Amino acid sequence: MKHSVLVTRQIPGDSLQRLREVCEVEVWPETLPPSRDELCRLVKGRHGLLTMLSDRVDGELMDVAGDQLCVVSNYAVGYNNIDVDAAKIRGIAVGNTPDVLTDATADLAVSLLFAASRHVLTAGNQVCDGEWKTWEPTGWLGVEPAGKTLGIVGMGRIGKATAKRLVGGWEMDLLYTSRSDQTDMEKELSGRRVELDTLLAESDFVSVHVALTDQTRNLIDEDAISKMKSTAVLVNTARGEIIDQDALVKALESRSIFAAGLDVTTPEPLSADHPLVKSPHCVILPHIGSATHASRNAMSEIAVDNLIAGLSDQPLRCSVT
Ligand code: GLV
Ligand code: GLV
Repeated sequence: MKHSVLVTRQIPGDSLQRLREVCEVEVWPETLPPSRDELCRLVKGRHGLLTMLSDRVDGELMDVAGDQLCVVSNYAVGYNNIDVDAAKIRGIAVGNTPDVLTDATADLAVSLLFAASRHVLTAGNQVCDGEWKTWEPTGWLGVEPAGKTLGIVGMGRIGKATAKRLVGGWEMDLLYTSRSDQTDMEKELSGRRVELDTLLAESDFVSVHVALTDQTRNLIDEDAISKMKSTAVLVNTARGEIIDQDALVKALESRSIFAAGLDVTTPEPLSADHPLVKSPHCVILPHIGSATHASRNAMSEIAVDNLIAGLSDQPLRCSVT
């Protein structure tokens, strides 16, 4: 009997063809994710799942799927949507898609940093809305990264790639937080590893790159934001839950920081009348960090490789456990 696999969204590239050669594949055809009820119905009897970051894969869902489930392959580098402990207990392998989206996500972090610094979105919207009247000497004044201090919260692959761009290109000084020693990188980029409080107090631009865990949920809370400079720009391309959004709204309203650029929020999407969406000091993008042809195609390859390996009880190409 062929293995049966559920893929919860259409993915780019031709990797699914490879999957179809070795198992029965059902692909959720809609753009919107399956509801929880639909997902529970669809996972029953599957041996493998290829899931998106918007699908919650917890122990309950694994039990609904059944004992034959042996691999969950997440189409993302982040895997906070998956209960990895629950998977371990049940002997289910879990894979993700690191590395291939590092450059794309770092590029987007830099784009957000500049967009927020120079009011790119709000200024452009004024043109689109026919509200721009004339060149203004005092209009749209922003801040400049060159020669300033960059704070990277979480010096993983994407944090490093972001730092390289900005330290190399804009000659920024680098502060960073990291759980592990980064001596080689320090030499290369002349960075300094500091505590989060120091990073927040001394950085002109802060870019968040930690994975979402119980330890990093609300890491950037009201107290943390209060330590930042009033001219500082905060960028998040990691996960929305890492920043306390209510605290960010307050900080932007009271101008206790200059601006924010977010590729991620909680929930996704925010409603159109959310104060962060309304704020002229906040740029929000629809979680497009990895959205390039090259990255997404490569993510498809890895996700399918992970799934095929898991189905045949082989080590995954990229395993999170
Ligand atoms: C995107 O957010 C990812 O984790 O790949
Ligand atoms: C995060 O997962 C990273 O690759 O930096």
